[in-house]
Amino acid sequence: MTQSVLETSGLRKSFAGILALDGVSVAIGEGELVGIIGANGAGKTTFVNVVTGYVKPDAGAIRFMGREISRLSPREITRLGVARSFQIPQLFLELSVLDNALIALAVAAGYERVFLRPLKRPQALEQARALLARFKLDRYADYRCATLPQGARKLLDIAMATGGHPKLVLLDEPTSGVSKDEKFALMDTLLAPLAQSGAGVMFVEHDMEIVERYAHRVIAFHEGRVLADGEPKSVLADDKVRAFVTGTPANARTRDERRFDAIA
Ligand SMILES: Nc1ncnc2c1ncn2[C@@H]1O[C@H](COP(=O)(O)OP(=O)(O)O)[C@@H](O)[C@H]1O
Ligand SMILES: [Mg+2]
Repeated sequence: MTQSVLETSGLRKSFAGILALDGVSVAIGEGELVGIIGANGAGKTTFVNVVTGYVKPDAGAIRFMGREISRLSPREITRLGVARSFQIPQLFLELSVLDNALIALAVAAGYERVFLRPLKRPQALEQARALLARFKLDRYADYRCATLPQGARKLLDIAMATGGHPKLVLLDEPTSGVSKDEKFALMDTLLAPLAQSGAGVMFVEHDMEIVERYAHRVIAFHEGRVLADGEPKSVLADDKVRAFVTGTPANARTRDERRFDAIA
């Protein structure tokens, strides 16, 4: 692997006695496309939150481009070149798609406060339209976000997150809520511009067909730990991964469900 873009070592985070992350050490290289899998409650979102500064780890280190970032704010981490999307798209639903793109670019450029009217200079509009075009959203430019189909919402959220040309992009379930037939097209559309820019991408995903098709590497989480990390084929064939992640029998309980059972 070339120089690591991201390297975490011994990341730990607990919430009310539950170890959401229990010593997570992973590295991702430039341009790598990594799928993150794991049952509900395995710690995937916490990992994304910790790397992007939204949740502070109890212990461990996070190096981005060689620099320790675990004490930085989400905004500072974004500025260094780490972008993320959320499980639920974060859009201004009452504004148009184009206005959302203008705001995202202004925020990426470092504006602390954003007023729409002065943003609409020809150069800014051109950049916003180019951003939409990269993610095949140009035909929706004048739509109000609230009227967008789910797949387009997801794309816009990711386009907005990556307007600042990040070196690393973390996507939390980019295809959740999107129909089976649209998932592949959505992944094709969102990954093309990211691959072209050379960004490393980590995406959390439940659909193993998507993982197999797109990931260069797969990291499987189980109860806050890395259960397996390697080539998609070998990770998906791993006995422990099949037992705890992909082949979960219908009557298996997640850690959260067992905890709830114990309380109830
Ligand atoms: N803010 C929080 N407060 C309390 N518990 C949390 C919080 N975030 C996550 N957890 C718990 O941490 C564990 C991992 O959650 P999460 O990272 O969301 O898992 P995943 O994304 O893999 O489904 C779960 O047991 C979850 O209930
Ligand atoms: Mg999650």
